[in-house]
Amino acid sequence: MQPTEHQGIYKKNDKLFTQNPEVCKGTRVYNEQLITEDNTEYRSWNPFRSKLAAALLKGLSIDIAIDAQILYLGAATGTTVSHISDIITNGVIYAVETSPVAAISLLKVSEKRPNIIPILSDANHPERYQSIVPQVDLIYQDISQRNQADIFTRNITAYLKPKGIGLIMVKARSIDVALKPKQAYELVCTHLQQQKLKIKKTFELAPFEKDHAAIFITQ
Ligand SMILES: C[S@@+](CC[C@H](N)C(=O)[O-])C[C@H]1O[C@@H](n2cnc3c(N)ncnc32)[C@H](O)[C@@H]1O
Repeated sequence: MQPTEHQGIYKKNDKLFTQNPEVCKGTRVYNEQLITEDNTEYRSWNPFRSKLAAALLKGLSIDIAIDAQILYLGAATGTTVSHISDIITNGVIYAVETSPVAAISLLKVSEKRPNIIPILSDANHPERYQSIVPQVDLIYQDISQRNQADIFTRNITAYLKPKGIGLIMVKARSIDVALKPKQAYELVCTHLQQQKLKIKKTFELAPFEKDHAAIFITQ
């Protein structure tokens, strides 16, 4: 297992891995591969199941400190959330999900991982979780909704620290089926820039996710 430039993320045979915490040893979240080396258990991070893993393999360079505070919008059943939880051993991930069915699995994942705070809520209404979520270092969004750029910027206004960063995963077809994927990404970038956000880089996620892009922003 080789460490990568990203703290807490490892590589073996071109595959990404994170370290399973001691209390989760032997536990899988989404049937991922577990590998033990030198008494440490690693979980394979599947880029076909996690857009963050896909973006990293497509060249995303992002600083996720081990004590980072993260707001994650669209946590689903906790696939990507669980890997971020492995990385931020001294941090907290506030995981917002609107589907009660998905939230049940998310809750289960969080049982052994105290750094995941599951929040059953609608990211369209950031004020609904203001009693739980503090100012954060990173806002990550993966919700495939037509108004996702607007949801993202409103959460940034409410929760992102002045030097914080953001990552938005865009599904072109959710933005506008009539547009070519690149045009859909441009539309989202324009919206973000109108809200005074800076686009650091856009990463198309093929071959892992067709017609999806990760847009990395700063303020
Ligand atoms: C593509 S899935 C997310 C996958 C997840 N990010 C992962 O990598 O493991 C999108 C999720 O966003 C959720 N979602 C959609 N609209 C939402 C909203 N307004 N607020 C919170 N979650 C939302 C959906 O219920 C769904 O679980």
